[in-house]
Amino acid sequence: MADIREVLDNFGDMPILPDVVAKLTQLIASPRTTASDINEILSRDPSLTARILRLVNSSYYGFSRRITTITNAVVILGFNQVRNLALSAFIMDNFSVSKASGFDMKAFWRHSIGTALVAGHIAKGLRVKLEEDAFVCALLHDLGKSVMAMKAPEDMRAVLAVVEAERIVFHEAEKKTLDYDHATIGAALMERWNLPELMVEVARCHHDPESASEETRPLASVVNFADIIARSTLMGSAGDPFIPRLSPEVFERTGLNWPGVEAIMRRSALEYRESDLFFAT
Ligand SMILES: [Fe+2]
Ligand SMILES: [Fe+2]
Repeated sequence: MADIREVLDNFGDMPILPDVVAKLTQLIASPRTTASDINEILSRDPSLTARILRLVNSSYYGFSRRITTITNAVVILGFNQVRNLALSAFIMDNFSVSKASGFDMKAFWRHSIGTALVAGHIAKGLRVKLEEDAFVCALLHDLGKSVMAMKAPEDMRAVLAVVEAERIVFHEAEKKTLDYDHATIGAALMERWNLPELMVEVARCHHDPESASEETRPLASVVNFADIIARSTLMGSAGDPFIPRLSPEVFERTGLNWPGVEAIMRRSALEYRESDLFFAT
């Protein structure tokens, strides 16, 4: 495997995290931060604020009354969730152009949204508190694919050709084609942005949760299973039409039984109908 930082450097300029997201991350770390501090930072970016409120009012969160201010959103969802929504909106806006690589970026983000909805529900059922992180980690699990489609379209084309010729999943085709892969490149970019270690490691290990550290393994397993469910229920496209094998260890770690899986599939399929809320336009 190539030195992943070098690969990332060779891709050229990358979007940098906007001040608003960086500032939110700083504020969250301080115990003195209040909901109105968060409101003040977000008021500098009205379009981001509007998108956050749109998501908060989607049926995934299921609140019976409308949430119309950031202060209310912070009180109800907490600082982390609001920061995570801001981060999600930024990344989806900045990684949505595919340069003639044959990779369908809109379908790709739909796959990511579907995975996030499913992961959120799986995590809700776990005893360990993972729900907040599960959604954003799942939304960003395949970030590396959008980086490749934007910055290395020829690599993306080569992988997609192998997917098609050999009828294998994307991450298997990568192994045969490149000296890096989407999991490590996505993780390297998140690391450069100083995102939480948990997010970085989930991205790196989402196809092999057993390789994650003991603390990250439960969440990496949730995202791994959610990716499989999103594929099986045809939510968007991850770049290939195949379904990776579910390992018994992953299934066990998610604490689900099959009726539970079916309930999650039904619920997220309904929420998935609103996936347009995640896009800027
Ligand atoms: Fe992946
Ligand atoms: Fe995926």
